[in-house]
Amino acid sequence: MEIITSVADLRSKVSALKGQGLSVGLVPTMGALHRGHISLVDRARQDNDIVVVSVFVNPTQFNNKKDLETYPRTAEADASLLRQAGADIMFMPSVEEIYPEPDTRVFPLGPVAEVMEGAMRPGHFNGVAQIVSKLFDMVRPTRAYFGEKDFQQIAVIRKMAELEGFDIEIVDCPICRHDDGLAMSSRNVRLTPEQRAVAPAIHRTLAASTEWASDHTLEETKKFVIDELNSFPHMEVEYYEIVDPLTMQPISDWGAPHTLPAVGCVTVYCGEVRLIDNIKYNK
Ligand code: PAF
Repeated sequence: MEIITSVADLRSKVSALKGQGLSVGLVPTMGALHRGHISLVDRARQDNDIVVVSVFVNPTQFNNKKDLETYPRTAEADASLLRQAGADIMFMPSVEEIYPEPDTRVFPLGPVAEVMEGAMRPGHFNGVAQIVSKLFDMVRPTRAYFGEKDFQQIAVIRKMAELEGFDIEIVDCPICRHDDGLAMSSRNVRLTPEQRAVAPAIHRTLAASTEWASDHTLEETKKFVIDELNSFPHMEVEYYEIVDPLTMQPISDWGAPHTLPAVGCVTVYCGEVRLIDNIKYNK
């Protein structure tokens, strides 16, 4: 595996490979890699000749300075995991390399970016669009891989790709979970043992709500999830919305017109750690 830190080197390396007719899969990450990321690399490996993994903690998508400062950074462990997973290129640039000057672009992402994470974290999705558009432009991959834990992010990236005219297949990959159901996240390492012990209740409750939904209204189902999660120590729900999986717009009742399946998206503070997860309803 080659480790590349400069944009110019990345561009020339990848364009030489593509010149040989090879397909390229891109897996954008912020590092602190875990099995969830590796599942994206595995999928990219299956689908492409060459796999590029970017590891970059993108400052423009953090609307909270403390979150940026405390975001885990584990470059050496990341490199060794990527080597084992068979990545061909690890792109690990500095902030100055990516943003030699401030990125002032504002993407008209529209309604997909205005609800849930977009409403709670102003500027977050514009920052995601900035970095992912730069990576797409540098690598021009055949395919790019994103995890469904960040369900809304995938819709935002599809919108950005459409706005910018990128001809890249965006592949969404299933959430990876620990044995107890907690969705894998780089942020999980910041949970105290007590918080880590209750955190699996997030997925358990979402899963239970799919049964509950069979004979309850959408509003009752939302209330079930919120009340149940808030009943655990350390946990506080920020939002729970059941949305159309394409538009990300909340659905008011099960009978309202929407694309199937409706998806429930939750954000929960577990102590100071902000965790997100989602579930598909058979509705
Ligand atoms: O999902 C992430 O880890 C980040 O938002 C991404 C897509 C790598 C952009 O920084």
